[in-house]
Amino acid sequence: MAVTAKPKLDARSIRADFPIFEQQFHGKPLSFLDSAASAQKPRQVLDAMRAFYETSYANVHRGVYQLAERATEAYEGARQTICSFVNADSTREIIFTRQATEALNLVAYSWGLNNLGPGDVVVVTELEHHSNFVPWQYIAGRTGAELRLIRIDDAGELELDNLDELAAGGNIKVVAANYVSNSIGTVNPVERLSAWAHEHGAIMVVDAAQAAPHRPVDVQALDCDFLALSSHKLCGPTGVGALWGRRELLEKMEPFNLGGHMIRKVTLERTTWGELPYKFEAGTGPIAEAVGFAAAIDYIGRVGLEAIEEHEQTLVTNALERMIEIDGIVTYGPPPERRAGIISFNLDGIHPHDVAQILDLDGVAIRAGHHCCQPLMSRFNVAATNRASFYLYTVPEEIDRLVEGLHKVKRMLG
Ligand code: ALA
Repeated sequence: MAVTAKPKLDARSIRADFPIFEQQFHGKPLSFLDSAASAQKPRQVLDAMRAFYETSYANVHRGVYQLAERATEAYEGARQTICSFVNADSTREIIFTRQATEALNLVAYSWGLNNLGPGDVVVVTELEHHSNFVPWQYIAGRTGAELRLIRIDDAGELELDNLDELAAGGNIKVVAANYVSNSIGTVNPVERLSAWAHEHGAIMVVDAAQAAPHRPVDVQALDCDFLALSSHKLCGPTGVGALWGRRELLEKMEPFNLGGHMIRKVTLERTTWGELPYKFEAGTGPIAEAVGFAAAIDYIGRVGLEAIEEHEQTLVTNALERMIEIDGIVTYGPPPERRAGIISFNLDGIHPHDVAQILDLDGVAIRAGHHCCQPLMSRFNVAATNRASFYLYTVPEEIDRLVEGLHKVKRMLG
């Protein structure tokens, strides 16, 4: 049975904006079901970057000539776009980074090294991507703080009933969680975690890399203290991301990277730091990438994040309904209404890499692996899963192709 539901968003016309879909792979049209790893790029983003390089490129904040001013305006304009996108108070709170991973490392090192010590507790969830797990594990280890885990239930949702037990006997200083799990798509109740963190006097750190492409992200509504974004997952270029942080916290923090641009004055004896956000932006930044990041935010904004979310929920609902009918399949994650467009699954006795390779021969691209979430894989007692992930350009026929492909895998290897 083919998928018949008609989502409000017109994925077919959106798809025409993405040149990647003009190619064939193994003689078949591309069914790209790996957007959670990285999303494809529309012409509007590629054109914006090309036009910037062709007409407005120079290093920023350094030149007094007209071209440098134009480049600076574009770069700072991109910062303003990100500021509005997350509903921050000020562009001073937006720091360009290489990706969400660097943003989270910045917080873990810069805030963590100076604020954590023995007796302190850092709480992370079992759902975290390594980028919001490993830095905290490492910094907790370096400072003598303890790392504690919010566990998940069998459906892949956070177990929040025993939070007070989790807090017992420790001084909670950090709660770090993703907003959407990149691996199984769970949407986490970040507002609730923020409230709990603040009750304990802790900071709330949100990895929004997988949420921002799919649903509105509002730092005021989430009431968090730091939030990390990546451009590449929301149709922007690689090599750029952003950290939003509360100004009063950022002001007190030590720089993370040292070098040019982040200083106020350098003498042989000592160096003083520049103002926010430049204190955290050492070296030449990702200038054209920031312009592309902003163009991507404009692009998904024009489509509408609510429409994108609804589109993905329709796809996920239909895909799950059809996938669970496949003999021997195990799917991971919560019901569609509490997940983004991501389905992790395994076919009994068939290695995820074999599944992905057979699908590839039919032009269907999915990811197989641990998705940078080894603690989560251990929770489910697997080394890896297959993961199909959907985005604004995913059309229902791609779900048909995925399901047909999985039946074929079963016939070949099951
Ligand atoms: N974080 C990326 C993923 O989920 C790479 O696949």
